[in-house]
Amino acid sequence: MENTFFCCQIDFATPEADQALMIRNEILRKPLQLSFDPEDIEDEWDSIHLGIFLSDHTMIGTLILKPVSPEIVKMRQVAISNDWQGKGIGKLLVTYSEDFAAKLGYSRIELHARSTAIPFYTSLQYEIIGDVFLEVGIEHVKMVKNLT
Ligand SMILES: CC(C)(COP(=O)(O)OP(=O)(O)OC[C@H]1O[C@@H](n2cnc3c(N)ncnc32)[C@H](O)[C@@H]1OP(=O)(O)O)[C@@H](O)C(=O)NCCC(=O)NCCS
Repeated sequence: MENTFFCCQIDFATPEADQALMIRNEILRKPLQLSFDPEDIEDEWDSIHLGIFLSDHTMIGTLILKPVSPEIVKMRQVAISNDWQGKGIGKLLVTYSEDFAAKLGYSRIELHARSTAIPFYTSLQYEIIGDVFLEVGIEHVKMVKNLT
């Protein structure tokens, strides 16, 4: 049977938010021998948390949109579960998030892309701005996309 997926917003401090944190920890932190500082998470109360789920409600990917101005959101913590990478799931979630941000009135998305993820964002029409810099000990570049 073919898989079906759905995307939706995740409320802060819910079981889904815990599930998202587990995916983020597994995909983004553990490979770098890092873990989350509870203060980082407390700082996310004003961010928009989004997830992509299988039809049985298993979460397979997540990301965050942090408002930085009335026009701009920063896309952060984009993570797709290992078993689901390379299958178009990241593209579905990012595209959904762009629509979500546009409906809230934002006109631009910014992000800090790991070097390994640049081809993914380029395929979604994000553009590199500026030079390579280090974040969590690995090379990143700033990428942006206008939503209008
Ligand atoms: C990066 C990540 C979010 C991409 O999600 P994904 O579901 O694996 O990617 P998709 O299958 O949706 O790929 C979408 C497009 O990007 C391209 N792409 C994705 N990763 C790529 C890579 N490493 N190199 C080249 N192209 C890539 C795909 O070929 C596809 O192109 P197409 O639409 O022309 O077919 C996911 O692999 C992931 O969570 N990686 C580990 C964590 C990470 O690096 N997060 C980003 C931090 S900035």
